[in-house]
Amino acid sequence: MSISRDSFHSRIGFVLSAAGSAIGLGNIWGFPTNAANNGGGAFLFVYLVVTLLLALPALFAEIYIGNQAQKNPVSALGEACANRMPRVGRTVGKIGLCGAIMMLSFYTIVAGWMLAHALSAISELAGLAELSAWLSSDSTVRNIIFTPVFILLGAAIVHQGVHGGIEKWSARLMPLLLVMLIGLIVYILQQEGAGQGLAVYLIPDFSQVTDPKLVISAMGQAFFSLSIGVGGMMVYGSYMQKDKDLGKLVLSIGVLDTMIAFLAGLLIIPALFVAQHAGHEIFNNEELIGEGQLIFQILPALFNSMGTVGLIVAAGFFSLLSIAALTSTISSTEVPVSYLVEEKALSRRKATWLVSFIVLCSSMLLVAFFDTLFGLVIRVLTTIFQPLSCLFYFFVVGWIWNRGNKLTDKSVLDKNIYLKLWGNYLRFVCPVLLTIVFINVAFIA
Ligand code: PFF
Repeated sequence: MSISRDSFHSRIGFVLSAAGSAIGLGNIWGFPTNAANNGGGAFLFVYLVVTLLLALPALFAEIYIGNQAQKNPVSALGEACANRMPRVGRTVGKIGLCGAIMMLSFYTIVAGWMLAHALSAISELAGLAELSAWLSSDSTVRNIIFTPVFILLGAAIVHQGVHGGIEKWSARLMPLLLVMLIGLIVYILQQEGAGQGLAVYLIPDFSQVTDPKLVISAMGQAFFSLSIGVGGMMVYGSYMQKDKDLGKLVLSIGVLDTMIAFLAGLLIIPALFVAQHAGHEIFNNEELIGEGQLIFQILPALFNSMGTVGLIVAAGFFSLLSIAALTSTISSTEVPVSYLVEEKALSRRKATWLVSFIVLCSSMLLVAFFDTLFGLVIRVLTTIFQPLSCLFYFFVVGWIWNRGNKLTDKSVLDKNIYLKLWGNYLRFVCPVLLTIVFINVAFIA
């Protein structure tokens, strides 16, 4: 059956959409918190090295598989493994669909918190103090309301298709995100105490860079941040015309993602020290206060101390996080949607609602058993699922996939020394590096 596929209409549309997928809660919240918890500058340094050596090659492999196949991740992996193990390829593709649902089940909950906090600031501005207090305090009822609201927002965009929905919205929302981030940085850097935060963030203590805990955190952060390992980037790659300059596009996505993470650090870490300067407790036994508390207690307290301006800043900050989460959510949702549309002949509308319903059920399961499941799902996804998927992508691109793969085609490689080096890097170095890290994760984490 041949179905005419929707696609990105421009290279910039693809880059912005893929960067929209990469840039999310992981960058704006996860990265600065991890950096603050793991030595600031030392973490930043290791993160950059790991991104360059491993995460970017994995991103390339994932996008390359999707781009060559021009099909959903299940078919794309099935085709790439067609000669040697077609069933394994498709099965891994299907497991990837579960990874995308897993990611969405916790991500939409956290995104719902961001939405609630943005609305809390707005309702306080509107003089609705009681509503504002309810919106900013953690409760199961709030989760039950805001998680579905967020899922609906994502579904509304995915439902409109690749060009009309994903490409259009990512191209609008991404630049807005950058502008808001820079505005907030300019504001925070003028506050007292910001200089100390800046020094912690930008001056690395090189004695810490070999700390295994730091390296593992940086690795997990880099994989999650670049959205690799659940098929989100593979499906976006499949919506772009086959392109010779894939390397350049992948590099642009990596640069944008890393730049936003870096800027988020430039906002959050000085903000922590500004909060400390204002008398707030930010460290607990030399460890930074946990992620949840940090964002939902210290920062709103800081914003509150700024009066009405602070409310505007709070609304801007949490809207920024909601926007970033939305563009990441739509790429994960697209993974199972593309499979259902192309292989099960469902309409995009039906597929979107079906997937959203499954995500809703799994996120509600997490809400119901929050203490047991929430952290566990995040850990399993980022420290086991994503690294293993990437290892598989490296094997596919380097060893298994022959037909149509220029990285295993001897006649192409013999003519192009750079391609040969790149192919060998993906074939030998990446799997070994990743295996070393994975073993470390298993034994140390
Ligand atoms: N990269 C996103 C973030 O940093 O928040 C998270 C993510 C999105 C992971 C999409 C995986 C994915 F498929």
